[in-house]
Amino acid sequence: LYRQIYEGYRAAILDRRLRARERLPSTRSLAEELQVSRIPIVNAFEQLRAEGYLEVRRGSGTYVARTLPDRLLKPRPISPPGASDRSPQPAFISRRVKALLSGRFGPWLRTGGTFNIGQPPLDHFPIRVWSRLVATNARNAEVHFLHYGQHMGLLLLREAVADYLKSSRSVSCSPDQVMIVSGSQQALHLAAQVLLNPGSPAWFEEPGYFGTRHALTLAGARIIPVPVDDEGLDVSAGIAGGSRPRAIFVTPSHQFPLGATMSARRRLQLLDWARRIRAWVVEDDYDSEYRYGNLPIASLQGLDRDSRVIYIGTFTKLLFPALRLAYVVLPATLVEAFIEAKRATDLPTPTLPQLVLSDFMREGHFARHVRKMRVLCRERRGALVRAIRRELPFMQILGDPAGMYLAASLPPGIPDREICEQAARDGLRIAPLSECYVEDSPRAGLLLGYGGSTVEEIEAGIRRLREITEPVLRRDTSATAGKRPRIQPRTRGLGTRTG
Ligand SMILES: Cc1ncc(COP(=O)(O)O)c(C=O)c1O
Repeated sequence: LYRQIYEGYRAAILDRRLRARERLPSTRSLAEELQVSRIPIVNAFEQLRAEGYLEVRRGSGTYVARTLPDRLLKPRPISPPGASDRSPQPAFISRRVKALLSGRFGPWLRTGGTFNIGQPPLDHFPIRVWSRLVATNARNAEVHFLHYGQHMGLLLLREAVADYLKSSRSVSCSPDQVMIVSGSQQALHLAAQVLLNPGSPAWFEEPGYFGTRHALTLAGARIIPVPVDDEGLDVSAGIAGGSRPRAIFVTPSHQFPLGATMSARRRLQLLDWARRIRAWVVEDDYDSEYRYGNLPIASLQGLDRDSRVIYIGTFTKLLFPALRLAYVVLPATLVEAFIEAKRATDLPTPTLPQLVLSDFMREGHFARHVRKMRVLCRERRGALVRAIRRELPFMQILGDPAGMYLAASLPPGIPDREICEQAARDGLRIAPLSECYVEDSPRAGLLLGYGGSTVEEIEAGIRRLREITEPVLRRDTSATAGKRPRIQPRTRGLGTRTG
């Protein structure tokens, strides 16, 4: 009642239905009129008086304040809550955020659905073990864990991460170089903020990860797309382009989205070039644990003799995306700068999930889970590859057998975005490859996640995809017969190895 009376009067004043100096009824008469007690009315008037909408004159009554500047009062009614969703374009937003808004957020980026590229096998996550560790840690939380945590993250977790990275990813680091962050997206933002000025050139894999592009856009960096082939980033093409990047962002273990593994030759060439021009290299190692053909590829960071590589890894793919825990391994010289940037961005990452995760790792659940996930994802990938070959033989599977999604190319000229939009209406979260390109004339293809989908869902999904794709294919191949296709592959020598 109090809130209704308060909001009713405030809206009437702002809409000028009640004018300055107008007298309000007494609280007693209003209570009688509204058939309510005086208390909510007195409280509402008191609140309006405290906020300067009303003034009380002793012995005379309550009035609409004289001091409200007429020209600031709105002639139109106050919008109901939620109406802002429908309001016109805001008067001013920064150019950088406008650039983000113009990047179309397709339905394939929503959570859930078959073929979602970012979803691990959540149905196999040991939720009971995790819940037990959450409960134990919450119950036993000491008071100092309720304070802000450490800016680098919980030491216990940093030690566990450093041990894991040394043994499984050939990363050379001490826990002092490991910073725990709230997802690798935060790590990419921090890297962009720390390593680049507005306008600084940064190499970006073409096609590449939209999350990296967003971080570079928000930092105001000058994004320089460098083509990718079946050996990963084409360093020679980048050098030939004539730019001198301040930072180079790469996904060498499993190139996003084409799936190539960067060859040893390219790794050495990249590190050598970075050393010569004194550039930083940001290695996004987002799903390297998932390899099905051979052993995990050693990190680029482990090859670096010059402390130029910033290594990023995440728990999103190994555990679950909502955990929002990831890590950055920093050259010692960058630790202080990253701490300051993290402090300025969001202060330390929450402590309780870090306690739970360090127990999860220390008690051996993590290693066990990763082994299980690898077997399961290999099985799901196999089912997807077989279904594509059977139902969609015109698609070519790209990249190495690794990760939790694969890219498959469509014949030139086929509008991949249209297919993905149609598929999304049936709950298939397939992403268009063309969206991963910065420049025009991208290659057409589809990104299909298999980690979070069962074999049955994969098979049914591919059958449905065939029904969606075939009419588009018939329409577009007959329309473009003899003409230049609408979408043309731009990059030369793209990975065409099948897995
Ligand atoms: C290339 C790449 N990097 C990083 C991530 C993970 O991001 P986060 O740790 O913020 O969940 C993803 C997730 O899809 C990815 O594809």
